Amino acid sequence: MHHSKIVGLGHHVPETVITNEYLSTIIDTTDEWIVERTGIRERRWIDPAKDTVANMAAKASRIALQRANLTEKDIDFIVFATITPDYFFPGSGVLLQRELGIDGRIGALDIRNACSGFIYALSVADQFIKTGMYKTILVVGAEIQSTAIDATTRGRNTAVIFADGAGAAILQPSAKQGILSTHLHSDGRFAEELYVKDPGSSRPREERQPEQILDTTSFKVVMNGSQVFKHAVVRFMEVINEALAANNMKKEDINLLVPHQANLRISQYIQEKLGLKDDKVFNNIMRYGNTTAASIPIAMSEAWAEGRIKENDVICLAAFGSGFTWASALIRW
Ligand code: UT7
Repeated sequence: MHHSKIVGLGHHVPETVITNEYLSTIIDTTDEWIVERTGIRERRWIDPAKDTVANMAAKASRIALQRANLTEKDIDFIVFATITPDYFFPGSGVLLQRELGIDGRIGALDIRNACSGFIYALSVADQFIKTGMYKTILVVGAEIQSTAIDATTRGRNTAVIFADGAGAAILQPSAKQGILSTHLHSDGRFAEELYVKDPGSSRPREERQPEQILDTTSFKVVMNGSQVFKHAVVRFMEVINEALAANNMKKEDINLLVPHQANLRISQYIQEKLGLKDDKVFNNIMRYGNTTAASIPIAMSEAWAEGRIKENDVICLAAFGSGFTWASALIRW
């Protein structure tokens, strides 16, 4: 049985930088509050005239392919993690396939596991490679959150956090090493603690008529921030320890922890609990905010480009978010 290995990483973020200062002109908030509670200083928001989830994903994918010395033609399967697809349906996987100009009939699978989406996607791709079903899988996390947030004072706990971007990884078989294990969890009792309700299919038909909808709050992200925070810190630790135990490793064996960029305070809490030095944890939430399924591949791509991921390193990925879902992956690079 093969292992699967990440052979290329890429990312793309929209051009427009949204600073905390700008947000404080449209929302009752301050740079001080945002930095203190989240660590975020700026984030990127799309230009709806030119950016889509699929075209940002395609830009990230092309960089990953180039770094792997591969072309679009080499891809034989796509796994696409997003909770903000360009359409209600079909999903973003097929749009990415079209955008990349891949002809042929390769499969494209969509994953809707929010902040844990990229690790779920990686896990699915890993299984397909291990069984020999596919040889080159494109795994993507891409989101446009800026159009789903309530960018008013009412939605300020989410408006200051969530943002846009895309990250991609290419997986291929490897004889020796690569993804060592993945660990996936969920607890749907907490589904409504962080969600967007509409367009919900279980609504009566009349309620889904746009002209009937007077209050569009249900189309915006709703989050019980403190509840999500409390669960996140517990689950992050659990799922990282689970990955270490499954591989007979200790926290000292981690060369780089790449946590989902939910909130800098969450990353710092985990770092402290694990007793990891600053150079063993990668954070870029200060510049990009929380890009949900895109945050881990963007962070990995930047970490790799900065030379912080080297041959033989043990890389730990971990995420927690809406669902609740949480997940981890341990990789021998
Ligand atoms: O991606 C994975 C899932 N997401 C997360 O992991 C995020 C987890 N949660 C968080 O990061 C934090 O809960 C937040 C950063 C979202 C909020 O921080 P908090 O310390 O938990 O604040 P809070 O929601 O408990 O609100 C405290 C106060 C409230 O005012 P009152 O009621 O005490 O007067 C809020 O209205 O802070 C207020 N507040 C704000 N004030 C200024 C909330 N958002 C803002 C804001 N600016 N942007």
